[in-house]
Amino acid sequence: MTSPHPNFSLSGQVALITGASRGIGRGLALALAGAGARVAVAARSGPELDSLVREISAAGGEAVPFTVDLRQVASIEAMIAAAHRHFGRVDILVNNAGLGANHDAEAVTESDWDEMMDVNLKGLFFACQAAGKIMLKQGHGRIINMSSQASVVGIPRHAVYCASKGGVNQLTKVLALEWSARGVTVNAVGPTFIYTPGTAERLDNPEFLQGVLARLPIGKVGTIADVAGAVIYLASPAGAMVTGTLLMVDGGWTAQ
Ligand SMILES: NC(=O)c1ccc[n+]([C@@H]2O[C@H](COP(=O)([O-])OP(=O)(O)OC[C@H]3O[C@@H](n4cnc5c(N)ncnc54)[C@H](OP(=O)(O)O)[C@@H]3O)[C@@H](O)[C@H]2O)c1
Repeated sequence: MTSPHPNFSLSGQVALITGASRGIGRGLALALAGAGARVAVAARSGPELDSLVREISAAGGEAVPFTVDLRQVASIEAMIAAAHRHFGRVDILVNNAGLGANHDAEAVTESDWDEMMDVNLKGLFFACQAAGKIMLKQGHGRIINMSSQASVVGIPRHAVYCASKGGVNQLTKVLALEWSARGVTVNAVGPTFIYTPGTAERLDNPEFLQGVLARLPIGKVGTIADVAGAVIYLASPAGAMVTGTLLMVDGGWTAQ
């Protein structure tokens, strides 16, 4: 009888992580490498990727940097083709890169809209498409799209961000419907506020933190490791039956 003990190992898998130069994506690359994956790390900032690669290599892992501008479909396709050429396969795609900005709705400009939608939604879709074609040929793949609690509840001053993340959820469902029977699962992860170098300034402000905690039933903000747990689950054999879902890592924010 096969053991019912779930397998969370990513050993032998190749994972591509976007937005890996800092924040959550950097931590996800370290975590996936720690779980046994060989990782392709992508962003615009080459030097930051190089330092991440050195850190993963020093810990005994294997990582290769790929620069990409997710606003350009040609750049996405070239990056995924290069990672595929290097590793010979792409098993896991973590579409983590994303931008957030505070804007009163009446102050949003066309370029604010375009940049956030280009990275958060359009770039994410074309990364799914380019990696998805490879995964469908392989007959195996895992796509994990970084959404947010802001995909299911409104957050004032985040009109464009909320719209882009709502779009991520819908793309995730449709791609799961089209690709799951051919071996490619597609899921999304929805974090609450996560403590990162990028959010530290706001979360270290006691007044801001108090406002956040007032909405967080669990009584604390999230960590990058909290997000990594969800991503590794969805990428691993343990998550094989899960597709088309949005896994909240939100401390109960959206339960109320
Ligand atoms: N932090 C949170 O509290 C939180 C909560 C919920 C959801 N999320 C989501 O989690 C993800 C990561 O958030 P984070 O806070 O870690 O973000 P972050 O620190 O701002 O990092 C964003 C990453 O995206 C990359 N990126 C931005 N524009 C790009 C472009 N045009 N082309 C290629 N890469 C680009 C950046 O790399 P380069 O600048 O080097 O290109 C960077 O690696 C996002 O999707 C975010 O919406 C975050």
